[in-house]
Amino acid sequence: MTTQTQTMEHAHHRKVLRYSVGPRIVHWMMALSFLLLLFTGMVIFLPFLSHYASGGNSRLLHRIGAVIYMSIPVIYLFVDRKALKELLWDSFHYDRDDMKWLAHVYRYFMGHAAEMPPQGRLNAGQKLHHAGVVIFSAFIVISGLILWFGKGYMGPINLGIAAIFHDVSMLVLTVLLVGHLYFTFVYKALSGMTSGYIEEEDALLEHPKWVEELPAEEPWVVEEA
Ligand code: HEM
Repeated sequence: MTTQTQTMEHAHHRKVLRYSVGPRIVHWMMALSFLLLLFTGMVIFLPFLSHYASGGNSRLLHRIGAVIYMSIPVIYLFVDRKALKELLWDSFHYDRDDMKWLAHVYRYFMGHAAEMPPQGRLNAGQKLHHAGVVIFSAFIVISGLILWFGKGYMGPINLGIAAIFHDVSMLVLTVLLVGHLYFTFVYKALSGMTSGYIEEEDALLEHPKWVEELPAEEPWVVEEA
């Protein structure tokens, strides 16, 4: 490549809008309330952390986190109904390229996105992650409400079953979060959830089918190199 073509390429350095402000606020509310639930839940659950449970504050904070976490879908509905619908639709619909992508997921895990089948707005791994968040959050909420309000009349066996569902679902969501964080940093996706924009180069590498369908003007910004 000549120096001139290199300069021309850099002169047209573009970024594309991945998440507008509404979904970003909703995401960070979800992430923060989840982390609050995780840490206060660990203090309640793990005996060696029980000395942090001073004066019952962890139980109160756990309930505050739960109310925020449960309100997320309702807030999302008001803030950006279209983005919520898109998230739910995309998370539960998989095409042939997604199946091929999943069959080669180890390559993606090792950082070789260029060798993967082309993906749309979400790759198949993100779809599975988001679907898992929806399903296991539903388990967490239902079992949590039973544990919170069912104490007087549910009976010890039902409460025990609810506790098992609650704890196992939280474990699954925490494992999903570890994967979510790993791929966020390996594939430099964080800016999509902070400024909202990602580099054109990263978008083309990871979501070429999505980039193809984007309108020519609106979601793009051009920056000087
Ligand atoms: C705490 C640190 C976290 C970081 C750094 C982080 C980072 C990100 C990033 C960068 C994206 C956009 C990926 C893309 O380009 O599509 C994203 C999306 C998403 N994350 Fe997280 N995340 C975090 C926590 C969580 C937690 C705790 C959950 C669930 C309990 C979660 C669920 C989601 C979901 C559902 C989306 C899709 C959002 C939408 O379409 O509206 N994230 N995250």
